[in-house]
Amino acid sequence: MKSKILVFIFLLSLRGLIDVQGQHQTVRDSKMEWWREARFGMFIHWGPYSIWGGVYHGHQQRRGGAEWIMNRCKIPVAEYQQAAAMFNPVKYNAESFVLLAKEAGMKYIIITSKHHDGFAMFKSAASKFNIVDFTPYKKDVLDELAKACRKHGMKLGFYYSQAQDWNNPGGSVARKEMSEGWANPDSVKIDAYTAANNGYWDPAQQTRSMEDYIDQVAVPQVRELLTNYGDVAVIWWDTPTRMTDEFAEKLNAELAKYPQVITNDRLKRPNYPGDYKTPEQRIPDPSELGNFDWETCMTMGSSWGYKSWDTNWKTTELLIRNLINIVSKGGNYLLNVGPTAEGEIPQQSIDGLKAIGRWMKINGEAIYGTQRSPVDKPAWGYITRKDGNTATTLYLSVCEWPADGKLVVEGLTDANSALLLAENKKLNTTKTAKGLEIQLPGQMPDPIAKVIKLELKGKLAPLETNAGQSKGFNIVDE
Ligand code: GLC
Repeated sequence: MKSKILVFIFLLSLRGLIDVQGQHQTVRDSKMEWWREARFGMFIHWGPYSIWGGVYHGHQQRRGGAEWIMNRCKIPVAEYQQAAAMFNPVKYNAESFVLLAKEAGMKYIIITSKHHDGFAMFKSAASKFNIVDFTPYKKDVLDELAKACRKHGMKLGFYYSQAQDWNNPGGSVARKEMSEGWANPDSVKIDAYTAANNGYWDPAQQTRSMEDYIDQVAVPQVRELLTNYGDVAVIWWDTPTRMTDEFAEKLNAELAKYPQVITNDRLKRPNYPGDYKTPEQRIPDPSELGNFDWETCMTMGSSWGYKSWDTNWKTTELLIRNLINIVSKGGNYLLNVGPTAEGEIPQQSIDGLKAIGRWMKINGEAIYGTQRSPVDKPAWGYITRKDGNTATTLYLSVCEWPADGKLVVEGLTDANSALLLAENKKLNTTKTAKGLEIQLPGQMPDPIAKVIKLELKGKLAPLETNAGQSKGFNIVDE
């Protein structure tokens, strides 16, 4: 009898646990819904580092993004702050940033509210090293952007360097060798100092403990960001250098007041995974991401912050195919711009984003609110998926046009209809042993990616995990 009661209690608690997990998943799914629908966002790296544009006293910074110039080139605190005190982005027009993102087809913006240099692009009572109190500009860049985002229905999130801070004493520093900046005659001395001092290169950085920096700067600033700018969609942490669980808990306590705010996986690894993973400058294989939402962040050129001598701009073809590739694997694409010190987005970025926008205007349906492909990548392009109430729709983004005009979707037995999305033009299909064959027009109408909308005869099996083994085209509900 006693054992029956114990089994009963065990089953009861198991049931309870499953319920809790289910509820947790539902809450999480509703929180992530807009984000999973959005798929495409703008990253903005902007701050006084754009004054240098990757050049220090005529020396081109050797390694890393231009936003790291203070660390890579070991710029003394006094010199960096002297320059920052002249930061005056008079050409900044927040609405033009938002309208450009909208034109590109982006649904959210993440801006560096404070990068590793410690300069706050917002009014802060926690540190005078901010755009309102420290510069002739005297206006709150984030406030202007938040207003423009609200006006145009754009979600806004803040990148915040919670650990690294090279100007507010006590903030941590990721140590970099002097040789990664420029051929400084004092390299040996400087490298010896940074090696012996937790990466710091200036005693002015060491006049406070990291704990005090967290309590007196990071926590109050995160609170300011969450309270002073209306709805915040995302907090994007970065480089948890010397972060502790204790520090992470203090920051997390601020977030806990705003359960709808989405966070990434860079607060403190491994035990603060946040809501999504952030592979950087690469498109991961889904198998490495497990059951997590993920977002690839990427530069359009070779630097996050403005780099005056950048020539390594990605082609429109690569940018659009990256977007499709990422979404076909179930991810989001966060594409970066680095405004100049005057407050303008470089023309190469504007041109690239407008070109993506022209493609998205026609083909956005194949991106927004879609899920990853039910099968591995076909040779001719990418597949995204959208489950309707009664049937699944597949979007075939064709990058390699078959010479014979016959596109085969291997493993697919049948479909209700096949359409050229842009022209809404019906295409004939034939069942073959290899799969469904779609007859395409002779010429490839879009050299970058041509979308075919394929309505299936029923619903495919639900996607269990973001990674998981491909399930094929199993219609489960006809
Ligand atoms: C890297 C860069 C950092 C940038 C981040 C964006 O960590 O070092 O400067 O902000 O990527 O993902």
